[in-house]
Amino acid sequence: MTDNLNEFNKGELIIENKRDKRLDNALLTTYEGDTLLSCVYIEHNSLPELSIDDVDTTTTFFGKQVPFPLMINAMTGGTEQGVEINEALYNISKELGIPMEVGAQDVLMEDMDTAELFLGEIVEEVNRPTVLLSNLHANSSVADIKVAMDTINADGIALHLNPGQEIFTKDGISNFVGRYESIEKAAKEYGDKLIVKEVGFGMSEEVIKKLVDVGVKNIDVSGSGGTNFVEIENLRNFDYDFSELYEWGVPTAKSIINARNISKDITIIASGGIKTSLDIARALILGADMVGISGEVLKYLIHGGYDYAKDYLQELMYKTKIVMLLLGCKNIEQLKKTPYKLTGKLKEII
Ligand SMILES: Cc1cc2nc3c(=O)[nH]c(=O)nc-3n(C[C@H](O)[C@H](O)[C@H](O)COP(=O)(O)O)c2cc1C
Repeated sequence: MTDNLNEFNKGELIIENKRDKRLDNALLTTYEGDTLLSCVYIEHNSLPELSIDDVDTTTTFFGKQVPFPLMINAMTGGTEQGVEINEALYNISKELGIPMEVGAQDVLMEDMDTAELFLGEIVEEVNRPTVLLSNLHANSSVADIKVAMDTINADGIALHLNPGQEIFTKDGISNFVGRYESIEKAAKEYGDKLIVKEVGFGMSEEVIKKLVDVGVKNIDVSGSGGTNFVEIENLRNFDYDFSELYEWGVPTAKSIINARNISKDITIIASGGIKTSLDIARALILGADMVGISGEVLKYLIHGGYDYAKDYLQELMYKTKIVMLLLGCKNIEQLKKTPYKLTGKLKEII
């Protein structure tokens, strides 16, 4: 752990450093979306015949055994503020043994000296105990992907689809032609190591099918209901008022169902608005293999500090274990087979 982490315990970092507006704005948003995960009804088991010690939450992800299907998802990087956050999150992921994905490394392609602005000195670390993933935009070349992965010695790479973010960004990208072709090339080159992800707008069946058709095997649906990039960008874009579009996106629960409908074989990462143990259990029951958290853990880290964020994730894992016990599930495999019923809005749109 570096001295930088002490900064978080002062709880002042975000106030002192205003350079990374996107990050700051992520903490200022107030719109409450809905993942629709609460529409997944699961039933209590009064006779579980299990001890909490019998409940096994281990799973395999990117070829490594991890203690729990939970990862810290991509956020920030490439700025001084970003590196402190990534470093802290990386240390937490290491302490808990859970996977982590760094924020977009695109800035590396312009200046290789920014490499340390992702994981600080940890960038040099080899033989990592857990899974570490790179992140770039979806238009990245095969060569850029190699640079991003090599720089942090990553186990895999996520390419993000973010038209719903860029289009609301002041001076953001407004032409998204060519991304599908880039993804196809990346899938051919990187196969199992490639994830395609959203950033909080979810994915339709049509999009997921297109990705699977060109060989994408890992999909992070990153649905709506959590971090809201329409609002984040709207807070710094004074040319338009985009608030009427805050509700845009495919809710996380629907996105998971969409992905599983398209293929039984892909690895699904469920992210977007994951906050509680019930969110995690329901996402896995709907068909996810791994669950990702960004915004919520960021809030714990910035507002409460390193231990607060670590305790939040640790408690989340324990509470999910309790949910598994109360469903009578001994392991993740059994949890995924839990019977459920869809209710309310989710039932209506299926
Ligand atoms: C401050 C912040 C920065 C982010 N930066 C990235 C990024 O660089 N690359 C990416 O793929 N997703 C990025 N995301 C999106 C997240 O990985 C995730 O898909 C999205 O926030 C939804 O999850 P959540 O509701 O748990 O936050 C960022 C999210 C936040 C909050």
